[in-house]
Amino acid sequence: MSIWHQRWAEGRIGFHRSLTNPALTDHWSKLQLDPSTHVLVPLCGKSLDMHWLAQQGHIVNGVEFVEKAVTEFFDDWSRTPQKTVRKFGEKFSAENINMYLADFFKVQPDDAPFSAWYDRAALVALPPSMRKQYVEQLRDLTLPGAKGLMVTFDYPKEEMKGPPFALSDEDVELFFEPFFDIERLQFTDLKEEEDSELSRCSLSVFMLKRH
Ligand SMILES: C[S@@+](CC[C@H](N)C(=O)[O-])C[C@H]1O[C@@H](n2cnc3c(N)ncnc32)[C@H](O)[C@@H]1O
Repeated sequence: MSIWHQRWAEGRIGFHRSLTNPALTDHWSKLQLDPSTHVLVPLCGKSLDMHWLAQQGHIVNGVEFVEKAVTEFFDDWSRTPQKTVRKFGEKFSAENINMYLADFFKVQPDDAPFSAWYDRAALVALPPSMRKQYVEQLRDLTLPGAKGLMVTFDYPKEEMKGPPFALSDEDVELFFEPFFDIERLQFTDLKEEEDSELSRCSLSVFMLKRH
């Protein structure tokens, strides 16, 4: 059982938000996407951000490997999804939201490659040793010119064991620069907003464009 299966089983899902993420509503329009664009949401949990994306007209494709998260997403939405079996897992669909119950590193969504993606608490949920693999899978699942919005955290690595794992600007450049153009859209010093034990803590929002 992964730490994530354990966390979902025990209801330790402090990362889940009951409102749409402001980083998404503030910045998504900067990607200048056609409403009909299909959007990939890696490591989606049961995020309500998927509803907001669907309300913009997008076809949303979440990927999540804990069944409880997928079930709760559709239950909370009062929808009974249509379920289809794929060789890497299962696909659950209702209206314009598909959720793949699958390991992100093995998934091959029907609509891939995508022109857009949204990462909130996805890359930073993974240990640093999996970052290269994540970025390469993202590259493989997206088209040249594809655009993504990514929300990250940074803090002194030695002060806390993730998740979320600290992702510095150097890390973002190191992993994304070979395949993506990087533009920072927001930097927020969380130290000023939250009572944290960390000596430094910030949130960044990046727009990424696949070469
Ligand atoms: C920190 S949570 C963030 C969820 C969501 N993005 C949000 O903003 O609420 C990370 C999620 O990724 C899922 N996850 C972790 N590793 C995964 C993998 N290899 N494949 C698919 N899902 C994964 C976990 O079960 C968890 O629900």
